[in-house]
Amino acid sequence: MLEITGHTRVFGILADPIHQVKAPQGLNRIMAERGVDGVMVPFHVASADLATVLTGLRAVKSFGGAIVTVPHKTAIVPLLDAVSDAARLVGAVNAVRREPDGRLVGEILDGAGFVAGLRAAGHDLRGRSAYLAGAGGAANAIAFALAEAGIARLTVHNRTAARVEDLFGRLRRLFPDLPLASGDPDPTGHDLVVNATSLGLRPDDPLPLDASRLAPGQRVAEIIMQPAETRLLREAAARGCRTHPGLPMLEGQLALMADFLGMVPPAR
Ligand SMILES: NC(=O)c1ccc[n+]([C@@H]2O[C@H](COP(=O)([O-])OP(=O)(O)OC[C@H]3O[C@@H](n4cnc5c(N)ncnc54)[C@H](OP(=O)(O)O)[C@@H]3O)[C@@H](O)[C@H]2O)c1
Repeated sequence: MLEITGHTRVFGILADPIHQVKAPQGLNRIMAERGVDGVMVPFHVASADLATVLTGLRAVKSFGGAIVTVPHKTAIVPLLDAVSDAARLVGAVNAVRREPDGRLVGEILDGAGFVAGLRAAGHDLRGRSAYLAGAGGAANAIAFALAEAGIARLTVHNRTAARVEDLFGRLRRLFPDLPLASGDPDPTGHDLVVNATSLGLRPDDPLPLDASRLAPGQRVAEIIMQPAETRLLREAAARGCRTHPGLPMLEGQLALMADFLGMVPPAR
């Protein structure tokens, strides 16, 4: 990080809880590498205070934008002044940029980051079948990105079934030919199995799916970043599956986030 002065732009990450976040480390490193006079700091904000905080941030002229994570990614959408088409269809935002006039503009980048992380690890998705556990903000983004990447069919399982149907309604608008199925905890018969729920963050969390049904040949991907090896990944590896941890999803989108937030060095 460069020295903080009166010129430094301040970026935040909005989350609750916040101890697990990894974006500040990555984006502060990118800003340092790019010679950007900016700093990203944690904004620990409860759901009930989100609207108040955004009203304040519109008025902070040195505020450049924020990364948005649990539990705010869906709730923040109607509170912003504009969102991208992708964010509107996904129904979630994970990056907000403050324009010079104070307008807050949202974008969703984590689905693209997830696919970029899989590709960087050598996993091509075209023609594969995918099972997705979860239908929250991250799962929605991943579902659209998997469809965009050319998967052959998608099964989604979520505790709240109504959220799956809602997701399918929006997916069908953009990908009418993609076969969709509402699943159960059994991931049998899918090439790629993804945990996109928040289960796995805490050591006593239940598993997001029935891990006893996992089989060799399946690839099991996690979006939980801490712990790096969740119980799901341990159980998958023990059953002979190839595993893919949560961190590459963030790494895959850090450059996308930095570009969107305008973390570019001043013109010389
Ligand atoms: N690796 C990365 O780059 C990255 C990026 C984004 C997010 N994440 C992580 O992804 C996780 C989810 O984020 P999100 O934004 O999608 O959160 P979210 O919108 O709040 O969605 C949470 C999801 O988890 C499910 N869930 C939560 N508690 C559950 C329980 N006790 N039993 C069964 N299902 C449960 C929810 O099911 P219901 O619909 O039934 O409530 C929903 O599908 C977070 O832990 C976040 O840190 C990682």
